[in-house]
Amino acid sequence: MNRGRRGGDGNSARLIARSALRSSLVFRINGRRVRLSAHPLKRLLDVLREDCGLTGTKEGCGEGECGACTVLLDGAPVNACLVPFAHADGARITTIEGLGGRHPLQRAFVAHNGAQCGICTPGMTMAAAALGKSPTLDQVRVGLAGNLCRCTGYSAIYRSVLDSQRGRNRRGRRERSDQIFRTNSGAMKRTKQIRPKKR
Ligand code: FES
Ligand code: FES
Repeated sequence: MNRGRRGGDGNSARLIARSALRSSLVFRINGRRVRLSAHPLKRLLDVLREDCGLTGTKEGCGEGECGACTVLLDGAPVNACLVPFAHADGARITTIEGLGGRHPLQRAFVAHNGAQCGICTPGMTMAAAALGKSPTLDQVRVGLAGNLCRCTGYSAIYRSVLDSQRGRNRRGRRERSDQIFRTNSGAMKRTKQIRPKKR
């Protein structure tokens, strides 16, 4: 699933970004108003990492295929490697740094080993954050379909996202967690899972 396919390919955008043309834009990053000058076709990913110092957003493929660079643009997940800087004009951008490190999703990823090498984790977390407070398993699967992970096999990630609702609907969480095992195993058996320790 490609998100934010609104620019050229990454290499041409990088070449163009070296030319003299620059645009001065005002936008909001993680709630802070920012004015920044850069080439209008510079990749938002590079603007975030190089000009804003927000290196939590990762680059994987650089071609809109892996989702590692996912950020929220006006609340919607986009692949920052495909979004030109010009699209940031007046926009609200949220990166992984904007979640503050103690967001329920981030806690749940730690509790359930939803992150291993961690390259996909910021993008995965931002895509999950866009799903709202009570996504179903199907909504999680669809919502994260554009985010690739080579390490976890996805079950731990789905469990993390669903469990981030812990405390809001404990009973619903148990039912949803059981559902994960039925779906992924392909068998209609209920598998007991280890619950994270209470914090
Ligand atoms: S680095 Fe942007 S989608 Fe892979
Ligand atoms: S944790 Fe390594 S790619 Fe997802």
